[in-house]
Amino acid sequence: MTADRISVGELQELLAAGRPVTVLDVRSPSDVDWEIPGAIHIDAYADLESGRLGPLAELSLAQGPVVTVCGVGRTAAIATELLRANGFETLTLDGGMRSWSLAWNIAHTTISGCKVIQVRRTGKGCLSYIVESDSEAVVIDASAEPDVYIRLLCERGWRLVAVSDTHIHADHLSRSRRLAQLEGARLVLPAQDRVQYPFRPVADGDRIAFGSTALLAMRTPGHTDESTTYLLDNIAALTGDTLFLNSVGRPDLEGGTHQELVSRARLLYMSVRRLLELPEAAQVLPGHVSTPIPFDGRLVVATVGELRETVALAGLGSEAFVDAILARIPPSPPNHSRIVELNQRGELPEDPSELEAGVRRRSRGSRAVDPGTPRRE
Ligand SMILES: [Fe+2]
Repeated sequence: MTADRISVGELQELLAAGRPVTVLDVRSPSDVDWEIPGAIHIDAYADLESGRLGPLAELSLAQGPVVTVCGVGRTAAIATELLRANGFETLTLDGGMRSWSLAWNIAHTTISGCKVIQVRRTGKGCLSYIVESDSEAVVIDASAEPDVYIRLLCERGWRLVAVSDTHIHADHLSRSRRLAQLEGARLVLPAQDRVQYPFRPVADGDRIAFGSTALLAMRTPGHTDESTTYLLDNIAALTGDTLFLNSVGRPDLEGGTHQELVSRARLLYMSVRRLLELPEAAQVLPGHVSTPIPFDGRLVVATVGELRETVALAGLGSEAFVDAILARIPPSPPNHSRIVELNQRGELPEDPSELEAGVRRRSRGSRAVDPGTPRRE
């Protein structure tokens, strides 16, 4: 923390510790696509650009420091300077919302004797998992920086034995290969011929063993051809981008003809049906969520029984499902072709947030959309 700046990591720690802090988002409403949990939005952009506090002058601020935030930190720095001149303890979030896309928090649970940590990129909605058995761990869908997982493993004395992705991601750069390299763990990926670096392929029915248990691979194609769900004792399913808590994956990001899209949507239908035939009490742990994840330690999860009720698309017949999916294809995530290309090559740029930052498309006052999800009304 410098005199008037705070880093993403420092703000993340304040929020995780429940310390008093007021996050003041000064972006104009049209630029607000994702937010920091608990942030206050004041549309002061135009005033600040003219060197005035505008509506910020009327603000009664609670106890604790004020952290100003905008897109990349420039306008927020103006707010900080003006608020400090008015006597408020104010800091600018370094790098703004673009840098915040790398912020993360966690939630814990225990399933079938295995400790599970859900690692959430709160500013982007990506969910990943550390699953532990007898002090050996597997990481699924690593999307936070590799150091995050290494720190969490180290703090608990767990040894990483395998890293896997549920599919080739299009919305974020996979950190799985790098994490496996750093920790000397097996890199296990769904069998496919897209990835251009060595990995151990996992097919439908294969197991990823760790500790005294294993994750069972269940091929669930549709979002992508290789999409795979990992089952833990048939009572938890890590569904990647196939099944979310309010919707299902999108089948279009691999491109192709209309007929290929229809075929993939039919596969998706069958995959979703298979997942919803799991035991009613089985827990679904998805790969994405469509809203910022609070620093409340609460797991993002639902049971199969709940999803049978809440995922409206799942109640449709095959052709109605396909029609509904194809009628609701949202715009492709920015940079998705480049992200897929890098994920297939196993490359991780120095600053991944630059490519990933454009993926967030949440608008205030409108329904949120999962990065991998068709828009639902
Ligand atoms: Fe995806």
